[in-house]
This record gives sequence, C-alpha cells and structure tokens, in this order.
Amino acid sequence: MKILIKDGHIIDPSQDIDDIGDILIVDGKIKEIRVKSREQKTESRDFKLRDTNSELRTINAEGFLVIPGLIDMHVHLREPGYEHKETIKTGTKAAIRGGFTTVCCMSNTYPVNDNASVTEYIIRKAALEGLCTVLPIGAITKGQKGEELVEMGTMKEQGCIAFSDDGLPVMNSLIMRRALEYSRAFDLPIISHCEDLTLSDDGVMNDGLLSMTLGLKGIPAEAEQIMVFRDILLTELTHGRLHICHVSTEGSVNLIREAKKRGVNVTAETCPHYFILTEDAIRDYDTNVKVNPPLRTKKDIDAIKEGLRDGTIDVIATDHAPHNRDEKLMEFDLAPSGISGLETALPLSLMLVDEGILSIKKLVEKMSSNPAKILTLTSKGGLRPGNDADITIIDLNKEFRVEAEKFLSKGKNTPFDGWKMKGIPVVTISKERIYKW
Ligand code: DOR
Ligand code: ZN
Repeated sequence: MKILIKDGHIIDPSQDIDDIGDILIVDGKIKEIRVKSREQKTESRDFKLRDTNSELRTINAEGFLVIPGLIDMHVHLREPGYEHKETIKTGTKAAIRGGFTTVCCMSNTYPVNDNASVTEYIIRKAALEGLCTVLPIGAITKGQKGEELVEMGTMKEQGCIAFSDDGLPVMNSLIMRRALEYSRAFDLPIISHCEDLTLSDDGVMNDGLLSMTLGLKGIPAEAEQIMVFRDILLTELTHGRLHICHVSTEGSVNLIREAKKRGVNVTAETCPHYFILTEDAIRDYDTNVKVNPPLRTKKDIDAIKEGLRDGTIDVIATDHAPHNRDEKLMEFDLAPSGISGLETALPLSLMLVDEGILSIKKLVEKMSSNPAKILTLTSKGGLRPGNDADITIIDLNKEFRVEAEKFLSKGKNTPFDGWKMKGIPVVTISKERIYKW
C-alpha cells in the first residue's frame, strides 16, 4: 500500500527538517520525503507513482504538524496478569489515540517479565493484538525481588530492549553494579526507578508541611536523590548505561546535570504530571494524583522545566499506569499509585511549548528522537527514507476537554478529567494502518 501525506508542516529533528512538505510511504516504510523550499513552492510537487497496481491513499495534512510517531519509553500494559487494569490491545489503542506508535512496556506484570518465555508471550500477543509497536522491558532481577539477576542475554535475544524493576528499586548496590556491568556487555540501558525504600518507608506523598497537615506519611525528595546519586556513581564505576526514569525532584535534576558534565553515560526522563501538578493537588485526597514518585513542589517543577530546557532531561515518558476504578476508590494510603497517561501526554507536553520552555522540535526530540536513540531503535524516531512509517499528524489548534470516561485505555484514572487542552493527533500511522479522528 502507498500513502501520500501532502502539504504538512514536517518536523523531524533527526534530519533537522522544519518545513512544509510531502511524505511518500510504500509498504509500511518511508520511501521519500520532499521538503518544499520557498523556490519550489510553484513547482510540481508530485512524486512519480509508477506502480499503478497498488492502492494509493492521500492524506491532506495542510495546516497540520507531521512528526515521527511518538515513542513512550515507560508504560504499564499490565498484560500478562492484570488484564482487569489494561491489556496489550486496550493499551496500544490508547497509545495510538495519544499519537504514540511505539510503547515500551514495564516488567511488573504477573508473572513478572523476568524470563524469555514471558518476553515471548508479550511479543506474540503484541504482534497479534497490538495496534502499535510494543517493545518489552525485562526485569533486572528475578521476580523484581532485587536478589538475583535475570538472564539478560536470552531476554535480549527474545526482544527485550532494556531492563528495569520499575515500581521497585534495586536496593542492593552489588546487584545494581552487576546489572550495570551487564548493561555494558549487552549494550542495553538499565532503567532505574530511584527510591530508597528504607527512607520512603511506605510514604504516600511528598514529605513536608502538607503531608503533616493532611496526616499522610511523607516520602522525602532524598529517597529519590540518594538512589539517583548511587546509580550515577555505579555507572561511573562500571561504564554501564543508565537511564533514570520519572525524575520528580530538583535535587535529581542537579545530580544528573552534574553527572552529564562529567561525561557519565546517563540519560533521564520525566512525565507530564511532574511538570504540571504539585502536591497541592492532593488536598482533597484525590487518589488519581497518587503516583510514585509523588508529586512535589513548585520549586521542583521549575527545576524539571529547566532540566528539560537545558537538555539534562532527555525524554518525556508517560509512566502510563492504568488502574481499575475500584482500586482507586480506596483511601489515599491504600490506593495504588499511577495515572493513565497515554491519552493526555501530548497536549500536556505542548503546554511547555506554549510557555516557551521547549520549541516543538525539542518536544519531538524528547518524545520521539531521543527515546529512539537511547533504545537504539534505528528505524524509528525519525522520518528518514527506509524507516518504519510511524507518523503522527497533529492539529495544534484543536481545543478539547478531557473526558476520562471516553479514554480508550481501561484506566480512567486521571487527574486531568475535565481539563481544557489544546493540540491533539488527528492521524496516527502505525503498522501499515491509518487511524483518523
Ligand atoms: O505511579 C506509579 N505506578 N509508579 C510506579 O513506579 C509504578 C506504577 C505502576 O505500576 O502502577
Ligand atoms: Zn517507577
């Protein structure tokens, strides 16, 4: 099948393209990209489409942004084991609606993705039912217990693209050292959920005056920062590859910035809720704002925005963490952590563009090109000829109101329900299919 995307505003940081142009797709791959410089505007813009046998579909993208499909390095698809929260099918539907053409699914399933057969199950299920590309992240340790390393080699062969015990930290520094050594040998990143459990001590929100006032147990910023620092040191020691996920504090941003200056092989991500919401959102005990790490303060938000602006934070991921309604209806202390994030991440991140913190090009870098680079996805994250035709077309001016009930994800758990937002995908192209709204 051939698809011609015409007259869109193409932004592709990987080729430094930011201009009006056309893209020709043939059989799921980008065949040609034609940017129209000012002089070419009057010339004939048509591609030579000689093979008349195959069907050609034309998409008029005039007035819309055309970018490489978004890549989410951090989602919880919950399958196998927690299908009441999400499945590969519903999670990838939500991804497509949100403009994501690749999602990397975390290992905290049941059973945990800590061996090649679970990885194989996910890959097969995703091939059958996934609307977008699904890349599994294997656990670092068996059962995420932090005691014994998984067999990274066989899991890599089966399709794991990184390793993480996300949801739980690897508390034992020797095990983490070994994991980083292997990450070097296998050339795959270790994605670290940085939390010193002895310090977070079953806390449920940011530690401070507000947690005291609300009578909720606090998690100090240091619980994250101690582990960020430890993992940076271990990365220096081992020359491994470290990616720090869901950065939530000013101190973490500073530590990562310093480490990068020293040349440490570390990258980092944050999520929209960490630059949009503060702990104040917890005042009425809304469990939809319970996340781990917890929402922090204005000072932390400002530091995260600066980290995004100056390149300390490479990636915006969602940490899409769908939960069942009944689970989130529990008291704040008992409710599970997480936000269903795939269907709001793009408009929330576009707020950074409105605020002048990121250009659209930088945003595309953080939501597509950089994740592709970090995960060495050579055929994704850019619109180069030969690449997979993963493309998102966005109407930047479209205003809409978030309706959680209409989410395609099973997880309706969002604190952004009812929020007015601007900028939404109108077309997502993935796995040779066109999804249009
Ligand atoms: O809020 C979170 N939810 N943070 C995590 O680290 C895990 C995730 C989940 O699995 O629900
Ligand atoms: Zn995590």
